[in-house]
Amino acid sequence: LGTAGAAGAAGLALGAVGGAGVAAAVNSDGEGPAALTSVGATEVMFHVKHQAGITTPLQSRGHLIAFDLAPGAGRKEATALLRRWSHVAKQLMAGRSLAGDDTEVARDAGPSSLTLTFGFGRTFFDRTGLTAQRPMELDPLPDFSSDHLDPRRSNGDLWVQIGADDALVAFHALRAVQKEAGEAARVRWQMNGFNRSPGATASPMTTRNLMGQVDGTGNPKPSEPDFDKRIFVPESGRPAGQEWMAGGSYAVVRRIRMLLDDWEKLPRGDQEAVIGRRKKDGAPLTGGDEFTEPDLAKAGPDGQLVIAADAHSRISAPEQNGGAAMLRRPFSYHDGISADGTPDAGLLFICWQADPLRGFVPVQRKLDRGDALSRFIRHEASGLFAVPGGPGEGEYVGQRLLE
Ligand code: HEM
Repeated sequence: LGTAGAAGAAGLALGAVGGAGVAAAVNSDGEGPAALTSVGATEVMFHVKHQAGITTPLQSRGHLIAFDLAPGAGRKEATALLRRWSHVAKQLMAGRSLAGDDTEVARDAGPSSLTLTFGFGRTFFDRTGLTAQRPMELDPLPDFSSDHLDPRRSNGDLWVQIGADDALVAFHALRAVQKEAGEAARVRWQMNGFNRSPGATASPMTTRNLMGQVDGTGNPKPSEPDFDKRIFVPESGRPAGQEWMAGGSYAVVRRIRMLLDDWEKLPRGDQEAVIGRRKKDGAPLTGGDEFTEPDLAKAGPDGQLVIAADAHSRISAPEQNGGAAMLRRPFSYHDGISADGTPDAGLLFICWQADPLRGFVPVQRKLDRGDALSRFIRHEASGLFAVPGGPGEGEYVGQRLLE
């Protein structure tokens, strides 16, 4: 594979191959032609310690879909649904077609790094009689003063994140997930996102968002000794009844609209001051390259801090938040032009952590009080999901909760 082993920030660089559970494969059902390139041929494993789609390199296409259990559906129906979804995920992530009524949308493609990641929302537990198994970490997120949240596009009993490096492969998986929901669950909301295509840049690098910033530099790296502790729920020491979350992670999902017309009017120097990093290469304003540590105490000749007191990268830095850290793994979105003529575009911000109270919540509280970026963004929807550990061989996702 030409792109092998080049994972950048947190192993999430676009086009990088070699993250946890990623292997090369070809279409193996014997029906369609093998994918021609390493992009199509890359397979992410379904049976792994942590579900796929968390430390997997960012894919170029993403769909987020949340469901509510149908009236009358309970634990039995939910269990059967997770079994069906797990079967679909295993087949499609391996590049195999679905028996029976496969739509054949992805027929000629390889697995294309497809991942399906499944999570449970707070409301799932009451509806299935599993309230005693609900982790405290799913307590509702606090309100933030800058929230403009649409409840119809927030939360949900069940959540599926789909990512792939091919749009048809991603859509194929989305349709399969929706169809398998059958009578058991109804779609609550759905969002579509994207990142840069693998191969579009000369070398794998951290992605850019729709404001043009290099985004993801400060992410915890899997090679760091405390990475697992920060991102994944420990294997032991869970309260009674909640052992099922061992090896899992909590996903905070925020649809964050970017006020691009305002942002793009801002001169580049001012844009850089908002973040505290250079636009060109993501380096801190205090110098060096993208991965040089920012010098937060440094003052310029005028005596002012070089990285401003309200710069986004200062306020969100772990050392400013008692060590609070999260793994940000977003997709950009663009849903056309709103009635007022502004683009309905921004970030499907997804962050992963072992505990939202030691990740998203303290950082967002602080950003809410005075982040220079907040003038240019609007949080429009929110979700919090418990994503259990990866299924063992022969298991389905969530089996340790549901059986
Ligand atoms: C850093 C953009 C929302 C947490 C950054 C950086 C950029 C950025 C460009 C600097 C490069 C990097 O380290 O990745 C944005 C944009 C947002 C957004 C455009 C909204 C549309 C958020 C939110 C949170 C957050 C909602 C969490 C509550 C962080 C963290 C860092 C960071 C933890 C790394 C700080 C460090 O390690 O020094 N963001 N961000 N960001 N952002 Fe955001």
